[in-house]
Amino acid sequence: MWLCRSGLIKMKFIFITLFPEFIADACNFSIIKRGREAGLFTVQSINPRDFTTDNHRTVDDTPCGGGAGMVLKVEPFFAALAAARALAPDALVVALTPAGEVLGQPRVEQLAHAQQDIIFLCGHYEGFDQRILDQADLKISIGDYVLTGGEMPALVMLDTLIRFIPGVLGKSESAMEESFSNNLLEYPQYTRPIEYQGKTVPDILLSGDHAKIKQWRLKEAIRTTYLLRPDLLAKANLSKGEGKLFLEVVAETKDKTNE
Ligand code: ADE
Repeated sequence: MWLCRSGLIKMKFIFITLFPEFIADACNFSIIKRGREAGLFTVQSINPRDFTTDNHRTVDDTPCGGGAGMVLKVEPFFAALAAARALAPDALVVALTPAGEVLGQPRVEQLAHAQQDIIFLCGHYEGFDQRILDQADLKISIGDYVLTGGEMPALVMLDTLIRFIPGVLGKSESAMEESFSNNLLEYPQYTRPIEYQGKTVPDILLSGDHAKIKQWRLKEAIRTTYLLRPDLLAKANLSKGEGKLFLEVVAETKDKTNE
């Protein structure tokens, strides 16, 4: 449902960041660039520094109560957020912080299907004044590690979301997408040469039997997931046929360890 009366619904992604060039550069490659240039979504940045009123264009200050480090100031970030909200009044405000909900595919899909514009609040080096964080509808972390800023996490989120916008992925990329749904990891892929340094491509992929190849790929996706990420497999909704392949994989793995 990406159509409205006036045409395509164009998701707006607005980054509140002290480093707009970082965002612009990152969005100037590959699929993100192509999708942007095709007008499938828009990306823009608003710099809180542009809303400072002092000669030094100060965006941070020492923490109240003392201590090391600096804290991002409330006034320039509030002003930047107001400017972003004027451009996208119904946008979801997402703050990127290691203290947020760890991003997973279910949240990505929920946000992608909501098709709501998104304002990313990106901090850098220092923490936000809590009153800035309190403006966010959602706080997101991209993993249990600390980065120097929220720009890369916000770009990760952008990348995961735009993949769901119709037309952003090309035909072959969409086909790949379908085969990787249902919490399964990628099956092994090969291209020419058929033999390299004694290592060969599995015969089945050269057989021309498309039904058998499809089945082999599904089984190998199940095998890879079982061996590398069994936690994902527990979440996968396997069909009866997939369940049978899974049992074969388990038996084959046991046989291998008993060899
Ligand atoms: N800012 C710094 N580290 C982060 C992380 N892991 N996720 C989101 N924002 C961050």
